[in-house]
Amino acid sequence: MPSVNADCLFLKACRREKVPRPPVWMMRQAGRYLPEYREVRKTASFLDMCHTPELASEVTLQPIRRYDFDAAIIFSDILIPLIAMGAPFEFPEGGPRLAEPFDDAKALERLKRVDAVTGMPWVHEALSLTRSQLDPSKALLGFAGAPFTLFCYLVEGMGSKLFPKVKQMMFRQPELARELLQLLAEQIGEYMVAQLEHGADAVQLFDTWAGLLHPDDYEEFALPYARQVFDRVAQTGAPTIYYVNGNPSLLSAQSAAGSTIVGVDWRSTLREVNRKVPSNVGIQGNLDPLVLLSSPEVVAQRTNRMLQEMDGRPGYIVNLGHGVIPQTPLDSVQAFVETVRASDRSASS
Ligand code: CP3
Repeated sequence: MPSVNADCLFLKACRREKVPRPPVWMMRQAGRYLPEYREVRKTASFLDMCHTPELASEVTLQPIRRYDFDAAIIFSDILIPLIAMGAPFEFPEGGPRLAEPFDDAKALERLKRVDAVTGMPWVHEALSLTRSQLDPSKALLGFAGAPFTLFCYLVEGMGSKLFPKVKQMMFRQPELARELLQLLAEQIGEYMVAQLEHGADAVQLFDTWAGLLHPDDYEEFALPYARQVFDRVAQTGAPTIYYVNGNPSLLSAQSAAGSTIVGVDWRSTLREVNRKVPSNVGIQGNLDPLVLLSSPEVVAQRTNRMLQEMDGRPGYIVNLGHGVIPQTPLDSVQAFVETVRASDRSASS
């Protein structure tokens, strides 16, 4: 299998080596803002796309062809392993839904432990296929939902503003919550290792809902389980990214979870993040994805500001603070990527 070059820009940044410019990619870069994605999506449901390695691989490569990002993230969803574990999520308009949430004492009996390779083969096949087609200068990223964020969807059965069923289980049946989180941590650790064995060069753990927690509850219900995942993946030596959304007060704890890089949302200045994150941990982020609704000029200004705020810090990866939204104009994304590329110190001017 053709594999990634050791001097790939993305991997150099992960090792905190000196780079001529930081690498750039976008969360949700394979998605509905791209007309070529919408074309494929007309022919298949979202779930069918996730379960068909050829389609998943095709849409993974689309943003690389159009924008030449430094990393491709495999097309899948954080809920795919949960479906394999016996939680049949559907994806109607308005987001994922589970007909029978795992919100009572029977939750643990209804979930099955599955083999991380044979029980959820689609993402691994998509990764191998994609790695064989991706230029060796580009990194291929695998990903998974963090145990706490997956627990949120399992127990609530959908996205939510406050996740009341989740909080109720945490506060009324903490033992049950811990058992579910423990099972998820073990499964997700093995799932990420399997992704790395099938062609992923690095993996990102998405803790999208951990920001809903009081810092003490984060330390109890999110951090230990994310840390278990990173401890497992550390045995492979591959770089890891830990993304948390919605709560800048968690940054120090997030930085101690054991990932190579922390992914941050747009609610902090990078100046502040740069100061607070220990120097042996890299930083990824953090343009507000809705800034892409402005104009190419404003996008370039805001992107340059991030580059200035991080100037000189090794281990910086340019990204948005959350996923790109479907309404995003294509020329804004172009301006974002071009601004990063234009900062290349080795380029002649
Ligand atoms: O980043 C990428 O390009 C890779 C693909 C990817 C998807 N989902 C594809 C997707 C990734 C990394 C995810 C992660 C994901 N999925 C997260 C964590 C990141 C985040 O955004 O906070 C979460 C919380 C989910 C769960 C999920 N999946 C939701 C809430 C939704 C509905 C909202 C929406 O955007 O429609 C999905 C569906 C989904 N996942 C789509 C895509 C491209 C849209 C499906 C479609 O094409 O109809």
